[in-house]
Amino acid sequence: MSEWAEPGSAASPAEEDGGFDTVLVLDFGAQYGQLIARRVRECRVYSELVPHDLPVEEIAARRPKGLIFSGGPMSVYVDGAPRPDPRLYDLGIPILGICYGAQLMALQLGGTVAKTGVREFGKTTLRVTSNGLLLDGLAGEEQCWMSHGDAIAAAPEGFSTLAATDRAPVAAMEDRERGFYAVQFHPEVVHTPRGIDVLKNFLYEACDCTPNWTPASIIEEQVRRIREQVGLTDKAILGLSGGVDSTVAAVLVHKAIGERLTCVFVDQGMMRWKEAENVIEMFTRHLGIPLVAIDAKQRFLDKLVGVTDPEQKRKIIGEEFIRCFEEEARKHSDARFLVQGTLYSDVIESGTRQAAKIKSHHNVGGLPEKMGFELVEPLRLLFKDEVRAIGEELGLPERIVWRQPFPGPGLGIRIIGEITAERVDILQRADAILQDEVKKAGLYRELWQCFAILPVIRSVGVQGDERTYAYPIAIRAVTSDDAMTADWARLPYDLLEKVSSRIINEVPEVNRVVYDISSKPPSTIEWE
Ligand code: XMP
Repeated sequence: MSEWAEPGSAASPAEEDGGFDTVLVLDFGAQYGQLIARRVRECRVYSELVPHDLPVEEIAARRPKGLIFSGGPMSVYVDGAPRPDPRLYDLGIPILGICYGAQLMALQLGGTVAKTGVREFGKTTLRVTSNGLLLDGLAGEEQCWMSHGDAIAAAPEGFSTLAATDRAPVAAMEDRERGFYAVQFHPEVVHTPRGIDVLKNFLYEACDCTPNWTPASIIEEQVRRIREQVGLTDKAILGLSGGVDSTVAAVLVHKAIGERLTCVFVDQGMMRWKEAENVIEMFTRHLGIPLVAIDAKQRFLDKLVGVTDPEQKRKIIGEEFIRCFEEEARKHSDARFLVQGTLYSDVIESGTRQAAKIKSHHNVGGLPEKMGFELVEPLRLLFKDEVRAIGEELGLPERIVWRQPFPGPGLGIRIIGEITAERVDILQRADAILQDEVKKAGLYRELWQCFAILPVIRSVGVQGDERTYAYPIAIRAVTSDDAMTADWARLPYDLLEKVSSRIINEVPEVNRVVYDISSKPPSTIEWE
């Protein structure tokens, strides 16, 4: 986590007048913790994942309309198994326990949890005996997703049992009077098809939440908050990368403070084909947002002469980027604020995770402290898919809204060997063909990333009567949810053939195309 991204330090929208109803998800170490918050937000209710041991006073101060106890990997009986503070049950706030969270609720309120010793895992039939409030609208039998060892054996006093499975006699229970609800199954995963209805029953009926967390109202709210933070006269500066996050952040801040925002775009010469031109054109012509574009191509290439070590490349490109940005920022010394496109997932990710490190480069790490900027982070509460929805609502073009992730050092870490202007140009042309064909095949959005790599080696080929000695191009296409793990995409052979023959025909410096069929781990997505 970058040092200025403390979890929970951002004010919740619910804390302020005119904000959104909030449901807090207490994280007991669930695999699906974030997913619960996302699903709640899909129901148009603002939700945040918080540590399970966040003090009760702090939880109460956030004035949530509901609490959800997440699942967790432990047995409730294991020594040191995390438990919620029992005072949470006295706050008068409706609570939904899921899996481990349901067992905690049963145990703490006087029911019993049995060590079954048998795991119930995967798709399971849920037999609904009484719909109650929580299972309203569900049929007598529904499919649900289970993943547990222990199970609630007896519901606490005051609760009525709503459903059972073969191994879980109390698969759902509720005490409507006190506002306590629990499900042994996972309503947040797609394998529980009616799970979203269970969540909606909890959110709308039990918690009385208003479903107003929509792209339009998020925009309105964020614009209001930015105005409040920046005030009526101060100025802000933003480092634009051309990706969806910094673009959406720029448009939001521009909406809030207009021409008092200056966007700085450093063209380090290692973007994709025509991408730098596209960014400049979009901002200046279509969006009408003031943009300072710095052509630093040669400056970066000069620094990279003779450099082949990947980490050294990253360091040089990162430092040069900061230097360029700093030089420009000094010309705007009256700007008090620095806008960053930090996302909610960056905020909650632990510092040991790679994405956090990546972000520190991407977000011009080190600048705020050094230059005394105050940060504006209008996307801090949002998941990536929400940023995309907002981008669409703001009318941004599809190629920006749905752009795949692109590393800060750009094509610099996709040329395996020394970076030269000629190699960047070859790679850009080959990559453009790949992007074009993948988009035409309608597969672009399904892939986490697809790109070309240029290993600086040469191999023998034959074209016409001539022997060639030219570069290969490697194609990488992966599916992934979060870049932590990835699988190589099973692109259709016809598509691969088209890409290969177009690259070899249209890029004369290339005589061979190979497809990378490695997953992460043990490989990484990028080659360097
Ligand atoms: P790897 O190659 O580690 O990449 O599997 C995981 C994700 O991170 C991106 N990536 C970077 N992004 N600066 C960035 O801004 C970097 O130095 C960097 N290295 C990798 C990569 O594109 C993938 O999405």
